Amino acid sequence: MRDTILVTGGTGFIGSHTVVELQNSGYDVVIVDNLSNSKADVVDNIAKITGIKPAFEELDCLDMEGLKSRVFEKYPNIKAIIHFAASKAVGESVEKPLMYYRNNLVSLINLLELMPKYDVKGIVFSSSCTVYGQPDILPVTEDAPVKKAESPYGNTKQINEEIIRDAVASGSPINAILLRYFNPIGSHPTSLIGEMPNGVPMNLIPYLTQTAIGIREQLSVYGDDYNTPDGSCIRDYINVVDLAKAHVVAISRILENKQLEQVEVFNIGTGKGVSVLELINAFEKATGVKLNYKIVGRRAGDIEKVWANPEKANNVLGWKAETSLEDTLKSAWDWQVKLRKEGIQ
Ligand code: WQD
Repeated sequence: MRDTILVTGGTGFIGSHTVVELQNSGYDVVIVDNLSNSKADVVDNIAKITGIKPAFEELDCLDMEGLKSRVFEKYPNIKAIIHFAASKAVGESVEKPLMYYRNNLVSLINLLELMPKYDVKGIVFSSSCTVYGQPDILPVTEDAPVKKAESPYGNTKQINEEIIRDAVASGSPINAILLRYFNPIGSHPTSLIGEMPNGVPMNLIPYLTQTAIGIREQLSVYGDDYNTPDGSCIRDYINVVDLAKAHVVAISRILENKQLEQVEVFNIGTGKGVSVLELINAFEKATGVKLNYKIVGRRAGDIEKVWANPEKANNVLGWKAETSLEDTLKSAWDWQVKLRKEGIQ
């Protein structure tokens, strides 16, 4: 019987791409999602890509009874979890901290409490480079100090990592792999799934592609007076399919019991820093579309520069980012064009 993987937040941007790669690797998948930031038709689009429709339960991970009856008892073959479900807007977390702490912390606690009761071996947790803040040394490695979070969102990621460590240290018979993502961008090459921000996008790429297609008037570049070669902020932009594949490798590492420690941490990035202005140029080169943008003041809370040292993931996980920035930006543009063609955005 094929192992079943529970993917919370599986109709979301990174979750949906991960479900595709899990199915491509022979796993059965159960998606749990409350659809607060995604749509149910993502399940059908995943099926169009892989030919297999994943099980789907519309459910909030805060609903402990629902998790028991509609997930772990209904799908007794769940062997591991990939936990994406969380609120993730940095700005919103500053306005609604209590909602962020309840949603992002209690949903994880519920899963950790239930795992041993249903013989679930391990959890892959969706963490973020946000935990590093502005690193003192670049590229940043996993042993860089975790700095005081700049937002309640970033703080929930740090606290989540500690909750997992403490649960394991207390003797819970589970393993965990924490994947600290850098900046996930792009869309599936089929353009059947991609990033679907609610309302006005906060993140760079969706705002950029919406500007390029005419939904937004102009892209504002938040600052060109940073201590970087062209003055704009630097990030490590990682293709979402490459990121999804890292989760599949992490899951197999847990199930094949290859972990060196019960809790392992990996930076999932390309290892290459790219500035906002460099990214705009790369987009124009990859798509032939001219972008209307202007330089404005800095955005509060932005760090200046961060990119990964991905050697641990390369060497220990045997995973490496493969897709070029140009191909990734082209996939983001193709997705935006498809949304326009279908009248969705
Ligand atoms: C990237 C760069 C902006 C918008 C956050 C979270 C991280 C993850 C990804 C959830 C920055 C600049 C942006 C715009 C701009 N979130 N920018 N104009 O802030 O690096 O990371 O989102 O998983 O955890 O911290 O991503 O895309 O918002 O910004 O100039 O309209 O683009 O200043 O330098 P960020 P971002």
